[in-house]
Amino acid sequence: MKILKLNRGVVAILAVSMSALAANAQQNFQHTITGETLKIMEEAPEKGRDTPAVKKFLETAVNPYNGVIGCLPKGEEAYLVACSGCHGHVGEGKLGPGLNDGYWTYPKNLTDKGLFETIFGGAQGMMGPHGGHLELDEVLKMMAWIRNLNTGDVKDASWLSEPQKAAFKPFDSKAWEGAGKAEAAKAECKISGD
Ligand code: HEC
Repeated sequence: MKILKLNRGVVAILAVSMSALAANAQQNFQHTITGETLKIMEEAPEKGRDTPAVKKFLETAVNPYNGVIGCLPKGEEAYLVACSGCHGHVGEGKLGPGLNDGYWTYPKNLTDKGLFETIFGGAQGMMGPHGGHLELDEVLKMMAWIRNLNTGDVKDASWLSEPQKAAFKPFDSKAWEGAGKAEAAKAECKISGD
């Protein structure tokens, strides 16, 4: 009986330390200007917090929706509602800087982690925080759309894996408005291993 009790204790300790490990698995996301830790789960709307893509992203800081054609229409939709007024319809820049070229005020925006942090927590002046009103899953789709708008040199697209770089085509607005969007709308928005 004693042994059984001990085992239970060990199991309990293991369970506690494993859940601590799981909690640690989330990356530390930081505000682009202040460096303060962003409170992702406290601030993000409840809806869209626990999709497979969000879970994967919070652990790896790599956006699983990058290059998933079927997710682009939703990403575009979200971008047009929340961002295009300041950054232009195709990220060409207006009141806010261009998001479709190789130049970034904050070089960390070259990474998915950095881009997410800037969108979630905001930067300076008119670039306010968007984490409180955009669903996390929607932010990831929007980020994939922003990456898709890239017309810069693919060499600089450090957020892409090598196979993604090989398949990359600079954004072509006419092709998208023509057949591209309709094709994408037919494809599934699904990440690998989903
Ligand atoms: C009210 C206008 C406004 C809106 C709306 C807005 N932004 Fe911005 N954004 C700006 C301004 C101005 C800056 C420059 C801020 C700075 O340099 O700190 C900026 C900066 C950025 C940057 C950093 C660019 C760089 O070169 O490093 C990113 C990324 C960005 N915005 C993405 C977005 C996304 C995505 C949305 C939609 C969720 C959005 N913004 C909505 C005005 C806006």
